Amino acid sequence: MTLDDKPVVHIVGLGSIGALLAVDLLRFAHCSVVPLFRSKKRLEQFQKEAKSTVGVRKLFLENSPLFEQELQLGSSPETFNGTHINNLVVTTKTYQTKDSLQPYLPYIDNNTNLILIQNGLGVSDVLRNEVFTDIEKRPNLFQGVIAHGCFQDKDQIFRFNHTGAVDLKVARLPWDPEQIVQSYDSLSADVQENQLARLLTSQPFSKEFCVKFMTYQELLLGQLYKFIINACMNGLAATLDCENGEIAGRASGVFKLISEESLQVLKIEYEPFFNYEKRYSNMPNYPSLAISSVLNTAKLVEDVEYIACVLNAKSSCSMRQDILYLRDIEIDYINGYIVNLGEKYHIGTNANKMLKEMVNLKLHISRSRAATKGK
Ligand SMILES: NC(=O)c1ccc[n+]([C@@H]2O[C@H](COP(=O)([O-])OP(=O)(O)OC[C@H]3O[C@@H](n4cnc5c(N)ncnc54)[C@H](OP(=O)(O)O)[C@@H]3O)[C@@H](O)[C@H]2O)c1
Ligand SMILES: *[C@@H]1O[C@H](CO)[C@@H](O)[C@H](O)[C@H]1NC(C)=O
Ligand SMILES: *[C@@H]1O[C@H](CO)[C@@H](O)[C@H](O)[C@H]1NC(C)=O
Ligand SMILES: *[C@@H]1O[C@H](CO)[C@@H](O)[C@H](O)[C@H]1NC(C)=O
Repeated sequence: MTLDDKPVVHIVGLGSIGALLAVDLLRFAHCSVVPLFRSKKRLEQFQKEAKSTVGVRKLFLENSPLFEQELQLGSSPETFNGTHINNLVVTTKTYQTKDSLQPYLPYIDNNTNLILIQNGLGVSDVLRNEVFTDIEKRPNLFQGVIAHGCFQDKDQIFRFNHTGAVDLKVARLPWDPEQIVQSYDSLSADVQENQLARLLTSQPFSKEFCVKFMTYQELLLGQLYKFIINACMNGLAATLDCENGEIAGRASGVFKLISEESLQVLKIEYEPFFNYEKRYSNMPNYPSLAISSVLNTAKLVEDVEYIACVLNAKSSCSMRQDILYLRDIEIDYINGYIVNLGEKYHIGTNANKMLKEMVNLKLHISRSRAATKGK
């Protein structure tokens, strides 16, 4: 493989985010895209019902144009031809990651680039401890934190609505959780030499999709910030079955409990990151980061109140939508992640535990009511 070959990107998880990425990669980057479906049945549905095309409507552009792309090379565990996977984008829900990778493990090795584009935290621990246990065969791992919004268009198979074009932050994810700090040199080495990093930062894709390739510590700042906001908001609004604005000005007590607990365990789990500001400020070759002024309870509570509840008052969080459609929820990778860290470090995380239990109960009630109604 040389860097000049046309890169092949396999995508496992052709849902909202996977489709969005597939369409824009084909529009704006030099590569081919191969979706990997969960089963032959799902692949055939894509081929027959959707004529192997995926479509994304850009709601924020004038006249909301629909961009369609044909993906002829789709595959499934039953039909996969056994080619080495060079670049793999994972856009399943967090809890689906392990199962979705299993059939393709023989084709993934240390020459594969694998990027996770998902919400929440904890998937990389699953990959380290349960999936890629053979250290020699571990792929180059990247994390994407996506702020674009995209949703399935009701009743239209493989057609999605892209609601908000924001950005995609990307960094190389270390296998060793202690190795958090990266220099600008290692960043530019990836952008020059790694096929996936080159593709994601190539023009015009990078500009059109607002890709920001950064050091892991820069990504973590954004990721942890977004994570705590989600930990405060998602489970609560889903349990209460409300739009964000309905609890504006009323929920800071809950937000405070959740953020305080979350920060307490995250500070231990990501210790080198929380010490970074002191150790690395003004060091050449390393970015300066304002960590303590962003990741503190007062600031986080203020931001959930203002950004989630006021600016996005009309929004309905994704977990509430998942429950509405009786789908599984990603709680184990949000508040559940904090609960796991609490157990690991013997620190109480009762607020997060309670919220996790409550939202699971909410899903249970919604499902049993729907089942009774259906009878
Ligand atoms: N949507 C957004 O706007 C948005 C924004 C920010 C972050 N995120 C995050 O991005 C991640 C993906 O979200 P999404 O909204 O794109 O989810 P989604 O629409 O549910 O897409 C997930 C896709 O994964 C597929 N999948 C599940 N198990 C599989 C398997 N074993 N093999 C192959 N494919 C499998 C599903 O296929 P089936 O249909 O066959 O189940 C589905 O197409 C989540 O972590 C989410 O929190 C989403
Ligand atoms: C296997 O499939 C990939 C696309 O998924 C294609 O690029 C490659 O040429 C195929 N290899 C063989 C031997 O058919
Ligand atoms: C991958 O592993 C093989 C064998 O373990 C080794 O020869 C090769 O140099 C490794 N490649 C990379 C890119 O690390
Ligand atoms: C997606 O956008 C189209 C065009 O604006 C609209 O007709 C459709 O209702 C939207 N779908 C959803 C689920 O919002």
